[in-house]
Amino acid sequence: MKNINEIRADFPILSRKVNNDMPLVYFDNGATTQKPKCVIDTVSEVYATYNANIHRGVHFLSDMSSEAYENAREKIRSFINAGKKEEVVFTSGTTGSINGLAFSFGERFIKPGDEIIISYLEHHANIVPWQMMCERKGAILRVIPINDAGEIIMAEYLRMLSPKTRLVSVTQVSNVLGTVLPLNEIIAAAHSVNVPVLVDGAQGIQHGIVDVKAMDCDFYVFSGHKIYGPAGIGVLYGKENLLSELPPFQGGGDMVEKVTFEKTTYNVLPFKFEAGTMNYPGAIGLMSALDYISSLGREEIAERENELLSYATERLSAIEGLKIYGNATRKISLISFLLKGIHQYDAGMILDKLGIAVRTGTHCAQPVMDRYGISGTIRASICFYNTKEEIDILTSGIEKVKQMLE
Ligand code: ALA
Repeated sequence: MKNINEIRADFPILSRKVNNDMPLVYFDNGATTQKPKCVIDTVSEVYATYNANIHRGVHFLSDMSSEAYENAREKIRSFINAGKKEEVVFTSGTTGSINGLAFSFGERFIKPGDEIIISYLEHHANIVPWQMMCERKGAILRVIPINDAGEIIMAEYLRMLSPKTRLVSVTQVSNVLGTVLPLNEIIAAAHSVNVPVLVDGAQGIQHGIVDVKAMDCDFYVFSGHKIYGPAGIGVLYGKENLLSELPPFQGGGDMVEKVTFEKTTYNVLPFKFEAGTMNYPGAIGLMSALDYISSLGREEIAERENELLSYATERLSAIEGLKIYGNATRKISLISFLLKGIHQYDAGMILDKLGIAVRTGTHCAQPVMDRYGISGTIRASICFYNTKEEIDILTSGIEKVKQMLE
């Protein structure tokens, strides 16, 4: 792996100053990651040298952009170890993927009284689309509870699985608590009763190796911008037999085979799910991000992030009055915390003045807040380009917040 100075030099934004000349300390990687120069250059190169709509023209530039877009699909296939390119659908992001799937899955498989299982750890993007679908179809949403450490209670999940269950949809990693879910057990239990499983990989894919074949999930979704790629591009992976059975979730150009006013037939996979002009510069930029991640080494990234998490946990735990939420045995590099007697927004604003970017609030996961009886947390989400020195700056920043507000 490159050394940390070389890595940081790959990300132009990391050397900028914020708020009256404070060096940027970026700990909001759970919300979005910064982009290496190769990604920025790739997107710029698309627009500067071969911009043209994909799959439409017979001309030189359209061929070039179509080929690059399909190469991006192949890159993603191999990155997540999907069996076929046909199983990789581009979307606008995790939210777009889950909404699309909830619609199509609901139309095809759900009748009144059927049940969908999610967990208490879900982001709103893996709650609301299912609620909308349940409302439309008269189905029921069941929620796996969590313990105080922020881990799902497996026994409750196993009790919940029933002949009425049609789908289990769970996150790989909690965006609030950092909990890594026991996906192997969750998927094996669902499959033993023939129930497919969707995994929301928005907070998982950037922290280690994802192998959808080994995991044996039926659907896997993620966003490009959380894995160092551009915003507005994402992926819906689905097993071919399931995707083939689902109706499209959007109609328009490119997703059709033949259109007449009497009847329309649909294109083959994966194009059946890609209506209209897709975000091809985003897909091509995402390919570059995945190349970058692969060049650093995904195991090496996970190792470095684990080391940073241990260091940050040790430093933050030593601060009097600081409470960490989420103490799962398996956790990624993210720490949610509160300071006794201090509102999270006030703390976040002072940290910002010191150049430290953290996220405060409910993190689009209000049920997690309700579970702990709190209105929000301060979240420091750490990634491989962060350093121990930055964690020290955060620690002193928190001490300063306490001095000012306690
Ligand atoms: N889902 C993103 C987060 O957790 C925005 O911060």
